[in-house]
Amino acid sequence: MSDALPKRVRITEVGPRDGLQNEHTHIDTTIKAAFIRALIEAGHTDIEVTSFVRPDRVPQLADAEALFQALGPAPEGVTYSALVPNMTGLERAREAGVRKIAVFTAASESFNQRNINATVAESIEHFRPVTNEARAEGLAVRGYVSTAVCCPYEGRIEPDAVLDVVKRLQELGCDEISVGDTIGAASPADIARLLDVLVPNITLDTLVLHLHDTRGMAVANATEALRHGVQAFDASAGGLGGCPFAPGSAGNLATEDLIFLLDGLGIEHGLDFEAQRRASATIGPHLDHSLASRVYHAPPLPGD
Ligand code: HMG
Ligand code: MG
Repeated sequence: MSDALPKRVRITEVGPRDGLQNEHTHIDTTIKAAFIRALIEAGHTDIEVTSFVRPDRVPQLADAEALFQALGPAPEGVTYSALVPNMTGLERAREAGVRKIAVFTAASESFNQRNINATVAESIEHFRPVTNEARAEGLAVRGYVSTAVCCPYEGRIEPDAVLDVVKRLQELGCDEISVGDTIGAASPADIARLLDVLVPNITLDTLVLHLHDTRGMAVANATEALRHGVQAFDASAGGLGGCPFAPGSAGNLATEDLIFLLDGLGIEHGLDFEAQRRASATIGPHLDHSLASRVYHAPPLPGD
């Protein structure tokens, strides 16, 4: 473990994708576009906006093409990314003008079957032409490894199994790899065990941690990861999030909570807290529940 905390952390805002994919209330494309514009106002430069997956499997994101159309080209310095599971997804993303894609697999077979209807090995073979073509066209490529701590069907996952999938995604040429605690099962001790195995085998600036907050451990886990040198995190406005194919998964690490943590540690992140809160407030009223983030709901501190 490295004792020096990173000076700066890169945050990918996944609220529009991971956040909304699990919401049952229909959200109009125009509301999603307004949410994304508000996230840009908060300083986000990397926003995962949607998925080009089967619309019948994730109905909330069936408007992926319409959303890209509504957004128009990304402003200078901002990247919109989208999940792409196969060549059909890549063709749709390409038509929509997407410049960064994310392929996604898992460290456990049972979750992967339910999520993308493929074994881990099959999914890597499905991704090969996708990542080859994407890279040839100059698109950035992210790879996800889900269930990196625990599978909702198989239970605990060994860090070596995660490393194996990370290596396969590295071989495909992924620019960054986001390692996910999909159902928010980790405690800081689990994160330490995982990172002790991953960090020596990956260039640190290509490793992203994707935490879910099901058990209220996401901020503690992020703190542990910072102590291991992790420099990039996924986070979701107001703590939205969850995977429809992972029973028991709740919201992501909230962007507001991560900002509060990083500010406290003196680590730069490039976001404006109040503008982030305003972005979350644009989507909150369209949900059938309140936002999970404690920091989002907390009053400003006296003097701040
Ligand atoms: P499949 O059924 O195996 O695909 O789905 P197929 O190739 O057999 O095709 C079957 C039909 O689907 C065909 O249509 C295809 O055209 C169509 P038909 O000929 O029967 O009319 N099809 C598609 N349509 C639109 N877009 C596509 C597409 N592909 C095939 N891309 C597939 C495989 C992966 C597509 C499907 O299982 C799927 O869409 N799954 C949804 C997965 C998903 O979005 N999960 C949530 C995101 S992952 C997550 O949340 C975890 C993460 O946050 C990290 C973490 O927390 O750990 C990333
Ligand atoms: Mg997730």
